Amino acid sequence: MRIDILTIFPEYFNEVFDFGIIRRAREAGIVEIAVTDIRDFAHDKHRKTDDRPFGGGEGMVMKPEPIFLAVEHLLGTAEKDEYPEDAKVILLTPQGRKLDQPLVKELADKEERLVIICGRYEGVDERVSEALVTDEISIGDYVLSGGEPAAVVLADALIRLLPEALGNEASAERDTFSEGIFDFPNYTQPREFRGMEVPEVLLGGNHAEIEAWRREKALEKTRRVRKDLIDKGADE
Ligand code: ADE
Repeated sequence: MRIDILTIFPEYFNEVFDFGIIRRAREAGIVEIAVTDIRDFAHDKHRKTDDRPFGGGEGMVMKPEPIFLAVEHLLGTAEKDEYPEDAKVILLTPQGRKLDQPLVKELADKEERLVIICGRYEGVDERVSEALVTDEISIGDYVLSGGEPAAVVLADALIRLLPEALGNEASAERDTFSEGIFDFPNYTQPREFRGMEVPEVLLGGNHAEIEAWRREKALEKTRRVRKDLIDKGADE
């Protein structure tokens, strides 16, 4: 997979993809991540990437031209319905489809090429959504000062699902949310820590019993903390 990130703060990404699973996936050639400075495509005298909103109001709006030029540079001059290799052009915005594990999995399974635009300020000129972007994605119902942290979240969640990115394939299947509920609780050494004991069942080696206990604990916590996930599972 190749992921291009478009931003006016390229330095933001300097080291963020240099750790753990993401670093290994890059080194193994499973994913290539490239960051493009939108400002490099602002050709006016002041290299302006934003301006005041038509109709008045607070704040600044990101101008369409530098974003169009940057995406066209990356994908050739193709129109939205003819992007090469069906590349997706994603705008990160609180007004998008909410990111969840099924959406991450869909993108990881299907896409080879993603261009991710990080929105800033009060917003992005609507013509970017109309004529350039294939998908608008939000990472949750809260407002960030820009799409950059959301790009890191999206890329991280995606990359760890790419085939062979995780050393142990089984661990993605076991993840929280992969079955619509939380992961089960884990314990490691020492067996007793500050008076807290590891649950007896985990020490016994009875795999069926351990399996049942883990499922029960996962369900119990999901029910307590995120009842909506249980209700959603029941609907499906
Ligand atoms: N930009 C600002 N807030 C955001 C959010 N919640 N998700 C994605 N991009 C954003």
